[in-house]
Order: sequence, then structure tokens, then C-alpha cells
Amino acid sequence: MEKLVSLCKRRGFIFQSSEIYGGTGSVWDYGPLGVELKKNLKDRWWNAMVRARDDIEGLDAAILMHPRVWEASGHVSGFVDPLVECSNCRKRFRADDAKIKGTPGTPDVQCPACGMKGTLGAPRLFNLMFKTFMGPVEDTASVVYLRPETAQGIYVNFLNVQQSTRQKIPFGIAQIGKAFRNEITPGNFIFRTREFEQMEMQFFVEPGSDMEWFEFWKGQRLEWHKSLGLDHARLKYHQHTTEELAHYARAAFDIQFDFGGTLGFQEIEGVHNRGDFDLTQHQQFSGKKLEYFDQPNNRRYTPYVVETSVGADRTTLAVLVNAYHEETVEGEDEGRTVLKLQPSLAPVKAGIFPLVKKDGMPEMAHRIAEDLRPLYPVFYDESGAIGRRYRRQDEIGTPFGITVDGESMAEGTVTIRDRDTLQQDRVAADQLRAVLAERLAR
Ligand code: GAP
Repeated sequence: MEKLVSLCKRRGFIFQSSEIYGGTGSVWDYGPLGVELKKNLKDRWWNAMVRARDDIEGLDAAILMHPRVWEASGHVSGFVDPLVECSNCRKRFRADDAKIKGTPGTPDVQCPACGMKGTLGAPRLFNLMFKTFMGPVEDTASVVYLRPETAQGIYVNFLNVQQSTRQKIPFGIAQIGKAFRNEITPGNFIFRTREFEQMEMQFFVEPGSDMEWFEFWKGQRLEWHKSLGLDHARLKYHQHTTEELAHYARAAFDIQFDFGGTLGFQEIEGVHNRGDFDLTQHQQFSGKKLEYFDQPNNRRYTPYVVETSVGADRTTLAVLVNAYHEETVEGEDEGRTVLKLQPSLAPVKAGIFPLVKKDGMPEMAHRIAEDLRPLYPVFYDESGAIGRRYRRQDEIGTPFGITVDGESMAEGTVTIRDRDTLQQDRVAADQLRAVLAERLAR
């Protein structure tokens, strides 16, 4: 993980937020390559969930919502972690932190940070929602929250979407957006942060068909993670036990990825059967009906919801961890670091290199770059030895290297190097668009 964090910073994938001020706790900024990678990932999700299906509609609800939403959802009363604080060093821990030996609040118990005995207070409940004020007056009447999940924006818009699109149950609503949680123990780079992005889909079904749809979505979502190129052996399900189930869930499975190191297998996505909990709560709190009218059977009912909820940042981390390789190269002293990203996810699709900076090679390479740029992100590089230039692209996961050499000028051909096999083929320069399109689709 340390090597990956360092690569991400050095090459412009991910920077610490407000770094020049010493950083903001567990908040990260995506640099030029990171924003492309994460965007490619979000596009993959959007295409699979919204564009490729006629039974799921897209939505982009606001982050700030009516404060009553969070009372109805159970977040005001229930989205809490027990927190203990050391009166000596002021460090805070989750009460169930494995580093705390014994019961916090009792005299013999030691603070895991400063080592003092008896300084850990009794656990207090700490709400994970960020609060702010709407309007110019900062009083209790103007408190609003930064949403801790995107799901609620979908529930409150259930009828707006259903009626405007005339969708019939079963159908879903999907959205991608920021969520905020004041996590007590964030960490592990972008694994657990205080500001993150979720890709959530709520599928509205007839009560009684919920477990069938739950099984369907559980299967679909695992396949989607596999389709990103994540090693199959690093993916597994974890079924929630009765104790683990969230207050809204009738059944839940996590999809876990093996991050290796101290993290091991961890949740990247949750698939939940939420029953009619959310719509019923919102009907009670808003006083507005959120029922579906089933015309063929002439009956009204409150649908059940099957939710799929995946973190865009956490999946980006899984993709990066999965792609990171250090390799020795035959016949070379120096090894290489390579991100074996699926071509469709790679931030740059091709590096374009003149072998040397003379004999018309830079001009031809520039022409190729300009020809491809409207179609794909490409990177022109003429500085340093060609081996070095290949290595720089390997490190950021660029799947193809196109080199203009002596033969290119005479024959109108270039070499195309494959990042993973290192194989180089000679192809006609005027066929590059077609060759790349074919190879990128593999
Ligand atoms: N609406 C259901 C819900 O929010 P969740 O299990 O709390 O369920 C879903 O979150 C996903 O969001 C997780 O699987 C994870 O990928 C991501 N996620 C949750 N908290 C996160 C955090 N603090 N930092 C990064 N990603 C987070």
C-alpha cells in the first residue's frame, strides 16, 4: 500500500487534500490521472446500470436535503458510533477499538495512544453526520446535514421518477454522488474517508418478489466487479449475520475484495433487501403517499427495495491494488513497475514516441497524436531514452506504446507495443485508429 500511495502521488493519481497546510484528515484529491481513472470506473457503472437497461432510470439528487429526511431514515437517532476520549492526550477511539484492553471508563484501562491509565472516559454516542447551517442564521432551526448516503435522494424522488418516466414495477433508480461521514477511524488511503463517492441503485419491486431480485442483483454485481478485471480469487461474498444487519435491512450481502496486507478481505459493495422500511418511513414523516398503483391488478402498495451500493473510491483502490505489479524484465537490469489496468479503465490509452528527436520523427509522431487525440487520451513524449519512456507509461497503466522510427519515415509504419506482453508489432500508421479500436475493445 505504501508503494501504491507513493506512485499515486508521484504520477498524479491522488494527492492528500490541502497538503501545503499539512493535509486534511482522511480527505483526498484526485489528480489528472486519478480523475480519469475514477471517471472511467463511474462510466462503466453508469453504462451497466442505466444505459444498458430499460428498467433503470438515472438521477442526480442534491447533497443538501430537508433535515426531516434524516429523522425518517433513522440517521439522526441511529447513525452513531460509541466514542471514547482520553482526558490526557485528547485522542478519540471507537469504544470497540481492538487496541483498547478492558472497559473504557474504568480506572485500570490504558489509553492506547499516550499509555496513561484511567484517562479513557465512558463511551458516548457520536453521530457520524456532518452538520451545517442553511441560511444566514446559525440556530437549531437551520441545521442541515451533508448526506451520509445517496440513497435517500432516490427514495424521496420515487414517485417523481416513476410518474415522469411511466416505469412499471419492477424498476430501479440509480445515482452517483458524494456522501460524507465523520468517521472516527478513517484511514488506509482512500479506503475509508470522510468525503467519498457512492454509486447506488434502488430497485423497487413487488413485496414477495424481493428475495428473488435480491439474489439477481447479488449475482449481477459480483459479475460487474469481475468485468473490471479484478482477480476472481480476490472477490467473495460476505453474508450479514442477524447482529450485523443494519436497522433497515431484511437481508444483506457484502461483496468483498482482498486488498492484501493488513486489510485483507474488505467490503467494496453492499447489496441489501431494505423491504418497505424507507418508503414507509418517508410516508409517515412527510405525510405524503409513496405508493405504486398497479393498474392491471387495480391495487396500490408500497414497494420493497433491493439496493446495490458501491463506493467509487473504494473500488478505485481495489482496481489500483489489483493492477499494481513489480516485475523483472528479461535481459534488463532494472525491473519495472506496471499498472495492469484494463485498457478501458486506463487514464491514458497510448503513449506516442519518436525514437529520436530528428529526421522528421517528431513531426510524424505529433501528427499521429493529433489524429488520435479526439478519440482517446494519448500522451506524446520525446524526452529521454525510449526504454525510460516505455517505463513511465507502464507505471501509469498505459496499455499501448506507439513508436515512430527510421522505418516509419520510409514505409509509413509504426511499432505498437503491448504493455503486458511487451510484444511489438509493426502496423501501417494510417491504420492506427482501427488497430487501437480493436485492441482497446479486447
Ligand atoms: N445506502 C447504503 C450504504 O450507504 P454502506 O455499506 O454504508 O451502505 C456502501 O456503504 C459503500 O459505500 C461501501 O461498500 C463502501 O464501498 C462505500 N463507503 C462507505 N463508507 C465509506 C467511507 N467512509 N469511505 C469510502 N467509502 C465508503
